Amino acid sequence: MPTIYLDQAATSFPKPPCVAARMAEYLTQVGANVNRGVYGAAQQAELVELRLRQRLCALLDFADPTHVVLTPGNTWGLNLVLGGALHPGDHCIVSGMEHNAVMRPLQRLAKQGVTFDRIPCDGEGFLDLAALETLFRPHTKLVVLAHASNVSGTVQAAAAVGRLCAAHGVPFCLDAAQTAGHLPLSFRELGLSALSVPAHKGLMGPQGLGALLLAPDFAKALDPYITGGTGSASDSEEQPDYMPDKFEPGTPNLPGIYGWEAALAFLQEIGVEAVRAHDEALSRRFLAEIRDLPGVRLVGPADPARRVGVFSLDFVGQDNAEIAYRLEADYGIQTRCGLHCAPAAHKTLGTFPRGTVRFSTGWFTTESDIDAALAAVKALTAT
Ligand SMILES: Cc1ncc(COP(=O)(O)O)c(C=O)c1O
Repeated sequence: MPTIYLDQAATSFPKPPCVAARMAEYLTQVGANVNRGVYGAAQQAELVELRLRQRLCALLDFADPTHVVLTPGNTWGLNLVLGGALHPGDHCIVSGMEHNAVMRPLQRLAKQGVTFDRIPCDGEGFLDLAALETLFRPHTKLVVLAHASNVSGTVQAAAAVGRLCAAHGVPFCLDAAQTAGHLPLSFRELGLSALSVPAHKGLMGPQGLGALLLAPDFAKALDPYITGGTGSASDSEEQPDYMPDKFEPGTPNLPGIYGWEAALAFLQEIGVEAVRAHDEALSRRFLAEIRDLPGVRLVGPADPARRVGVFSLDFVGQDNAEIAYRLEADYGIQTRCGLHCAPAAHKTLGTFPRGTVRFSTGWFTTESDIDAALAAVKALTAT
C-alpha cells in the first residue's frame, strides 16, 4: 500500500531533491563556519548565507537583507519578538486563533506583568476587525497574528490589521507559518514590523531553521532576547547593536542554510503564484465533496479563496484519533489528529477538547492523493 502524506502543515515532504544534495555538499565539501574565518570555504559559506537572505527578500517583498535574521525556527523568531518587545506593564493583542508558539511565550510573559487581549473570531476563524479597533490601549506595544490557522486554514485580513496597527502606532508581527511559500506575501504591503517564517513548511527547506524579517525602526527598539558570540566585534563583551548580528548569536545551522537556499531557488523557479493556484485547485476538489458529506463536519471556511490547504474534519459520533489511525493503517494516509498545538483555535472553532483530524496539502500533493483521501473518508463515514 503506497503512503500518502497529507500532513504538510506539520512539515512539508518530500523536499525538492536539490535540498538534500546541497546539505550533503556543505557537510562533505565545505564544512566551514561563517563570520569567523577568511579562507575560501568560509567565504563561500557566507555567500550562500547572503544569497539565502536575498532570496527571502525577493520572495517576501522585503528591502534589506541585513534585516533578515536567520533563526533556529519559527517558534524562536516569535519568541525573539515577544520576549524582546514586551516588558512588565506592556499590553499585547493576539487573535483567538493563535498557535502555542505565540500563546506559551505570552502566558509566560503574563506571569511577569505583561497583559494581553484576544481579538474575537467567528465560527470559521475569521477575526473581528471592529473588535480589534476597541482593544488598543495606550500601553499596547505589539499585535501578533497567525496569518493562516494551522487548524482550519482560515486566512486573516492581514493588510487591514496592518492598517489599524499603523493608525494606532503599534508594531505588527505576522506569524506566516502556514502562508509563507503558499501565498504571495509582501512585507511592505502588509505594513509589518516583523514577519516570522519557518524554513520547513511551505518554503520547502529543512527543519531547525527559520527567518525573522524586521523593519529597521522595530529592530532598533527590540531587545536581543538571546545573546552570545557573533564572530564580529570580538573585543567587546556586549552584543553588537547592528544587524543582523544583534539577533544572530552562535553558530548557525549551515547545512540547513545550504538546503534552504536551494529550496528557495526551486520555489522561485516555480513561482509562489503557481503554488497558490495548485493549492486552490486541490482545495476546490476536496471541499466540493467534503462540504456536504454526512458524518463529517468541515471546520473552517468552505471558500477556497479565503483559506489555505489545511482542512480539519470532525467525524461526528466517532473517535477522531481512531479515524486518524485507520486512515493510515487501512489506507496509508498520514494525517494529524488532536489539538495541533493550538488549543485557543479549537476553543474558537468549537472543537476543544475533542480535536479534529487534519488533512493538509502542499506543492507535491496530487489530485490522486486528494481522491484517495476522499474515498477513504467516504468509506469511514459510510455506516
Ligand atoms: C501557525 C503556526 N505558528 C507557529 C508554528 C511553529 O512553527 P515551528 O514549529 O516551525 O517553530 C506553527 C507550526 O505548526 C504554526 O502552524
